Amino acid sequence: MGRITRRSFLETSGKTVAGLSGLAAFPMATARVLGTNERVNIALIGCGGRGRYVARGMAELGARVVYLCDLHPGQIDETAKFISKVQAEKPKTTKLMQKVFEDKSVDAVIVATPHHWHALPAILACQAGKDVYVEKPHCYCVWESQQMIKAARKYNRIMQAGTQNRSVPYIHKAIEYINSGKLGDIHLVKVFNLKPKRRVFELGNSSVPPDGFDWNAWLGAAPKRPYYQSIFENMKWKNFWDFSGGDFLDDGIHQVDIATMLMGNPGLPKGISAAGGRFHYTDDSEMPDLLEVCFRFDNFLMTVEHSCYPEYMRKTSGTIRRNDLLPYWTQNSTRIELYGTKEMMILGRTGGGWVSMVSGGKVVKKEYGRHPDVFHQKDFLESFKSRKLPNADVELVHTSCCMMHMANAAYRLGNITLSYDKANDKFIDNSQADKYLKRQYRQGFEVPEQV
Ligand SMILES: NC(=O)c1ccc[n+]([C@@H]2O[C@H](COP(=O)([O-])OP(=O)(O)OC[C@H]3O[C@@H](n4cnc5c(N)ncnc54)[C@H](O)[C@@H]3O)[C@@H](O)[C@H]2O)c1
Repeated sequence: MGRITRRSFLETSGKTVAGLSGLAAFPMATARVLGTNERVNIALIGCGGRGRYVARGMAELGARVVYLCDLHPGQIDETAKFISKVQAEKPKTTKLMQKVFEDKSVDAVIVATPHHWHALPAILACQAGKDVYVEKPHCYCVWESQQMIKAARKYNRIMQAGTQNRSVPYIHKAIEYINSGKLGDIHLVKVFNLKPKRRVFELGNSSVPPDGFDWNAWLGAAPKRPYYQSIFENMKWKNFWDFSGGDFLDDGIHQVDIATMLMGNPGLPKGISAAGGRFHYTDDSEMPDLLEVCFRFDNFLMTVEHSCYPEYMRKTSGTIRRNDLLPYWTQNSTRIELYGTKEMMILGRTGGGWVSMVSGGKVVKKEYGRHPDVFHQKDFLESFKSRKLPNADVELVHTSCCMMHMANAAYRLGNITLSYDKANDKFIDNSQADKYLKRQYRQGFEVPEQV
């Protein structure tokens, strides 16, 4: 890690988070060597709804949750209660992620903070010798992903992204089916993120942060702004570009990641066109409520359709995920369609299953789905022991996450078409678009240039 960055991170955080100043450099990669039956010690950084669910899942699979870290004391309390249902031993708690990195008993961290707070803890964890399970979307911008890949490789760490569909058997069966050639040549992939109608978002008034909650640290690399309860709660930070790329990124990434996997992990596209806007809502969100994107690859096109206003669209239900059932595809929000020369496949994410059809709607092959989380968490714990790359290795998911960021750049620049120079990792003749590849970091929260 670059010394300057580490120092500035600690110094600035230290102004707001008690106990940071004067902290020595993190020990370099000091991973414990585990005996065959020893349990993996996990720390959770970001104790919101998702983090506590993943941590509990890992505990149920035999890991030990040893540390809970969050800037908000209420989130730690809720998570401790949640974990206590499956683990008698109480985890240590802290609001300082540095404590987690310093603790030699911690083998791996789950990073489940908001999107703008993924890259830095993931990189710091690698430097401290911890493996990383980082929630999706693993990066806030393209450059962050590049730095995360470098850190994982340099420190020989497992870094698994939270795109859990990469681990579920029914999707692997779809890949086998596609690779057998049954679909023929696939030149069009259509990805849907047509979410059900969402609530109107009202920012409301700013207020004083709750006792003990470090709002300045929560803002991290993003510009300073007053505290709004409405931003913090229920992932409503997704409504702001400072913290996220919207629901298009947050939820759409699951389907785009599956689509890239089905297409053999083709790497970044060479072109991106966007058309979208705020057609339905006039609320305080900054995000488009309709966005259509077309990605150009050498031999196929991938379209992504995003919206969040139709009442009749539905995500795949729990009943479908738990049973041998398939969704009603036409109104399934989160499906992927592959148009081969011979067959057409429709696949549902996160337990939706798939069908492959010929003309007349005749289904020639189908698979039911199951929820992928347990498979993905197991894969992470197995990778910890085997030191083999996990199913959603950070380099593998670089493509899907960066595609979403590129699409948002094309939208934010006024619904334009961009061409990408893959060899030099920049847009062709568009310096404005290049600015979206790397964010401006608030002093003290920079992702290091040298990992
Ligand atoms: N894979 C999935 O299916 C799935 C599902 C839901 C959410 N997610 C992802 O999980 C992540 C978390 O989602 P969530 O719903 O739990 O969000 P959340 O906002 O409810 O929780 C995030 C927590 O992180 C804490 N935090 C923020 N900055 C921190 C810092 N610097 N140090 C310590 N704690 C910090 C916040 O205080 C908050 O408690 C997001 O990236 C989200 O997209 C993934």
